[in-house]
Amino acid sequence: MNINPHHKYHQNNISKTVDRFRQDILLDLGSNPKKLSSKYFYDKIGDELFQKIMNMESYYLTNCELDIFKTKTAQIADFIRPNNEPFDLIELGAGDAMKSSYLLQYLVDQGATFSFMPIDISGNILSVLKNKLNDSIPNLEIICLKGEYFEMIDQATTLSSRRKVVLFLGSNIGNMEYEQALQFCSELKDKLSAGDYLLIGFDLKKHPKTILQAYDDRTGITASFNLNLLKRINQELDADFDISQFEHYQTYDPSTGACRSYLISLINQQVTIGEYQIPFYENEAIFMEISQKFSPEDIHDLARESGFVTVTELYDTKKWFMDAIWKVS
Ligand code: AVI
Repeated sequence: MNINPHHKYHQNNISKTVDRFRQDILLDLGSNPKKLSSKYFYDKIGDELFQKIMNMESYYLTNCELDIFKTKTAQIADFIRPNNEPFDLIELGAGDAMKSSYLLQYLVDQGATFSFMPIDISGNILSVLKNKLNDSIPNLEIICLKGEYFEMIDQATTLSSRRKVVLFLGSNIGNMEYEQALQFCSELKDKLSAGDYLLIGFDLKKHPKTILQAYDDRTGITASFNLNLLKRINQELDADFDISQFEHYQTYDPSTGACRSYLISLINQQVTIGEYQIPFYENEAIFMEISQKFSPEDIHDLARESGFVTVTELYDTKKWFMDAIWKVS
């Protein structure tokens, strides 16, 4: 590890979550090349910045997937409940369920027997979502599951033996490297049973400039979204990052579909995190996030390699985004 502890690092007396956060940050900044995990982007300010990103004109992903959920609602409903049997609709990282609410409303209108089970790590987000849906779709049965995705899927399985339909939207799968995405889908498949479905959103490869603009906006919102993790580290881990000495840098490689964000150190500098000193060289990069873009073939490969069977693929009008419906056979 490329870090200099002033004192031995003590694990005692620190809450488990902070401890995990600290360990990950120190390990990632101690590695060569340096990196940070985008799963830590989402504190309160990070959530707000991501909402702003989703409202940006250039961040086309939200509108594309919304287009699918608004215009192909009946098709989705027909595919996920071929025999009209009762089922549980589980959404991973539901957020405000903006897209899925169109499907929920349609299913309720059709008299479908189902429970909506949003899973999120944030209890606050879940209670806001529950209140919102109670108002807008009064007849919807909602069971909120607060925790890690896989643990909560296990809980959903113990709560009810109904068939499961899992939603994993927004191209969240793109925030994993391919091997990690494959492992995630394989593990998800193993948690489900024959006849269960996964509806999963993928951002597709398209003109490189369109993709780059979505992640390198002129207003600097995406830059703030990345830099906010340094602020979070300062606040939660007693660190002293000078945010003005780091700059957001975005790349997109059209031959691999990897869209990657970095923070570049503008000077030679030492950053203190608790008892550790971390050196940064001028122009040294911290790798922050991958937002992988997919071809239809990439998606078929992922389905096959993780053991799912493709039922159908739904595109938005521009064919920029795909929601694939996969089945456990
Ligand atoms: C949450 N995730 C799918 C977003 C994405 O497009 O990779 C996060 C994001 N990063 C920068 N802009 C949006």
